[in-house]
Parts: sequence; C-alpha cells; structure tokens
Amino acid sequence: MNYLVTGSSSGIGESVARKLVENGHSVVLFARRADLLDTLTESLNATYDTVRAVAVAGDVGQWADCVRAVDAGFEIFGRLDGLVNAAGDWVDDPLAEAAVADIQRFIQTDVVGATLITRAILPVLKAHKAGRIVHINGLQAFIRQRPPVLYAAVESAVRGLCESLRWEAAEYGVHVGCITLGSVANTEADHPEPSILMTDGRRKCLSRSEVARAVLFMLSQPDGVNVDEIILTPLGQKF
Ligand SMILES: NC(=O)c1ccc[n+]([C@@H]2O[C@H](COP(=O)([O-])OP(=O)(O)OC[C@H]3O[C@@H](n4cnc5c(N)ncnc54)[C@H](OP(=O)(O)O)[C@@H]3O)[C@@H](O)[C@H]2O)c1
Repeated sequence: MNYLVTGSSSGIGESVARKLVENGHSVVLFARRADLLDTLTESLNATYDTVRAVAVAGDVGQWADCVRAVDAGFEIFGRLDGLVNAAGDWVDDPLAEAAVADIQRFIQTDVVGATLITRAILPVLKAHKAGRIVHINGLQAFIRQRPPVLYAAVESAVRGLCESLRWEAAEYGVHVGCITLGSVANTEADHPEPSILMTDGRRKCLSRSEVARAVLFMLSQPDGVNVDEIILTPLGQKF
C-alpha cells in the first residue's frame, strides 16, 4: 500500500513512516523542512531496489501544497491508499496571554491543515472506493477541564472531523480513524531508556514506535473493518 504521511520530517510522523516502510508499504513524506525529509527519504530508500519513499516539502495548512503532495503519490506510486496525518503544532500559553500569531498558526496547522489534507486525498480514495484516513490527536479532545485551553479547542475540532467524516466516507468505502494519545516521549529509539519513559517507577510516556504500531494496526484491518478510535496512554500518566 502507498500512504501519505504528514508531519514526517520528525517526531511521530517520522516513526510512522519508518514503520510503514519496514512493513512493506511506500510513503509520501510531507512536512516543511526539506532537508530532514531528504535525509529520511535517502535512508528509507537505501535498503530497497525500488523507490519506497518520496519527499514533498510543503505546509499542510496550504491547499496548493496539499494537492502537490497527493499528486506526487500518484506520479511516483500510481496510486494512494491512505493518509496518516501527524503534522502538528502547539501553544501551551494560557489563552489570555497567547500571541495571536501563535494561535493562528496552531489552528492553521492542526485544524485547517487536517481538513485540507483530508479534502485533498478524499476524491482519490473515493474514486477507488477504498482507503484509510488516520488522524493523530491528543487527549484534550476529551479532557477539557484543564489547560492548555487551545489544545482542547484544536483537538476537539480534529475529533469532530474524524467522527463526522467516518459517516460521510463510509458511503464510498473509505475508512476513517483517530488515534488519541497521552504523553509521547521525545525520542526515536524503539526501546527507549526506562528513565525516559518512567517517572517514580511508573510509565508516564509512550514511545513513538508504540504509537507507530497502533497506526499500523489501524491501517492493517480488512476492508470493511473500521477502527474508529484508539486511545493510547501510558499507564501511570496522571491527567
Ligand atoms: N508528543 C506528544 O506527547 C503528543 C501527545 C498527544 C498528541 N500529539 C499529537 O501528535 C502530532 C505529532 O506530534 P509530535 O510529537 O510528533 O510533534 P513534533 O515532533 O513537533 O513533529 C511535528 C511534525 O509536524 C510537522 N509540521 C508542523 N507544522 C507543519 C505544517 N504547517 N505543515 C506540515 N508539517 C508540519 C513538523 O515538520 P516541519 O517542521 O518540517 O513542517 C514535524 O514533522 C501532533 O498533532 C500532536 O498534537 C502528540
């Protein structure tokens, strides 16, 4: 299968792209930092005879860039089978103090971007009457009683997108799921040092590879089986 993975220059998106290629899939890597995408593309393609990864530098909040990324999938692989949207930004500041430019960038990336990249790939999947869309999201979509306020606003919107799109896309055979995450450690290692994942002897962070495994599970279901949502949390995280 061929997947478009946004936010794949680093973080969760990069781990997802690696996991997909390891498992025999091909990927379009989409994020803004072209240098990181090129390095990852080279490393993913190095061990295979055929092209397994292609890089498209662009901004998920810009329609023309989203269309370019989808078109690249077609040109290089002849077909796209799905989207994993892991592009994301964040603003931790209280709403009363957050800079307007930061608020706009956060919403532009996480809400407008999630919507535009989905809009760009949907007609392609609809034409095949098949495919999967997975959005990576966070727990503030549910837990709205605590700050940061902007996380709750953005993650609730992404959850709403997934929940409602599932009904629309089911009409033409496209599967839609959401992976809602607790804290994820800032490390690439498949088996990170316990000190990175644990606090006071309890698991407080997920590793990126654990998240990537959940994505692979969601994408690997038989046609007609939809995993609506996976809520993945480290056992000892306090909310
Ligand atoms: N880490 C956690 O603990 C956690 C927990 C819950 C949910 N999440 C969610 O998981 C997603 C990924 O988080 P992460 O931890 O992997 O973050 P990260 O390490 O900061 O990676 C974010 C990725 O998104 C890309 N990106 C940012 N803005 C973009 C834009 N406008 N257009 C295209 N790509 C863009 C970045 O690449 P460029 O800068 O190259 O564009 C980067 O590849 C986010 O939506 C986040 O909310 C994370």
